[in-house]
Amino acid sequence: MTVKPRIFLTRQLPSACMQALSDHTHLTMNPDDRCLTKQEIIDAVRDVDGLLCLLTDTIDVDVLDANPNLKVVANYAVGFNNVDVPAATERKIPVTNTPGVLTETTADMAFALLMAAGRRVAEGDRFVRTKAWGGWGPLQFLGADITGATLGLIGLGRIGKAMVRRAKGFDMNVVYWNRTRLSQEEEQQLGVTYGSMNEVLGQSDFVSLHVSLSEQTWHLIGSEQLKRMKPTASIINTARGPVIDEKALVHALQTGAITSAGLDVFENEPQLEPELYLLDNVVVAPHLGSATIGTRTKMGDIAIENCLAACRGDRPPNIVNP
Ligand code: DGY
Repeated sequence: MTVKPRIFLTRQLPSACMQALSDHTHLTMNPDDRCLTKQEIIDAVRDVDGLLCLLTDTIDVDVLDANPNLKVVANYAVGFNNVDVPAATERKIPVTNTPGVLTETTADMAFALLMAAGRRVAEGDRFVRTKAWGGWGPLQFLGADITGATLGLIGLGRIGKAMVRRAKGFDMNVVYWNRTRLSQEEEQQLGVTYGSMNEVLGQSDFVSLHVSLSEQTWHLIGSEQLKRMKPTASIINTARGPVIDEKALVHALQTGAITSAGLDVFENEPQLEPELYLLDNVVVAPHLGSATIGTRTKMGDIAIENCLAACRGDRPPNIVNP
């Protein structure tokens, strides 16, 4: 009879994942619908084989050192900037993520924010609810055309490429910057044009960010970069908040350096720069990129498989340690 691994889960997942965890593991978990403190995670991991955690959990040396026998840190996200991967690697602990399954869902959200920012959907919604609307007007809430516009993608990995597919449906011209340029063949196949960061920022009507967060991408978009954008342009962020310098963004939105923003992620979640709550030309969402029941369930399936594999002594399928 196989011994079920002991897993600690930092927050409840969709019901199908909870069923799988209860079938295949000895599960302990956070019973509340809130983030745990670091100390709570430290106390909980002391006696388990695996940790299944979220992007809101900071998994640093203190957590890793709380249990020298920890066999895996399975992050329930494609991003893993919340985990100290070098420290885990030093301790020979595999860290895993959930790539692939949230690509389309996240691109849907980015495109939804692009359209909402461009066509002032949230502003219109707020206005109608004031009951001050006097009827159709030729100059009301004029926005930007999406069809035929230029989309600039900063980062052309899986989610960036899913954005290209959506943009093509809207006859958009797509320019991109990526750390590594694609082959000419792939560029042609996708119908995208490579440019330097400044070229992409300067040419685009919509700029959408699709890079992971690292030391290199922290504040990749600051006041200098925002100044390069067209004053009519919008910026969309569904990647990680700290990729944009949020104070610089507020300034750009306040001064008309750019027209609008669609933000699903923030520099210090769940806090926003105070002005962002007040600005009309920003559409905000509470980090919903992967938030569909199907996708969140698939993310759970992958995270559980990663946990089980590592606890069996196998190489987990989605290991991110170098
Ligand atoms: C991720 O997986 O990194 C996403 O941000 C979750 O929504």
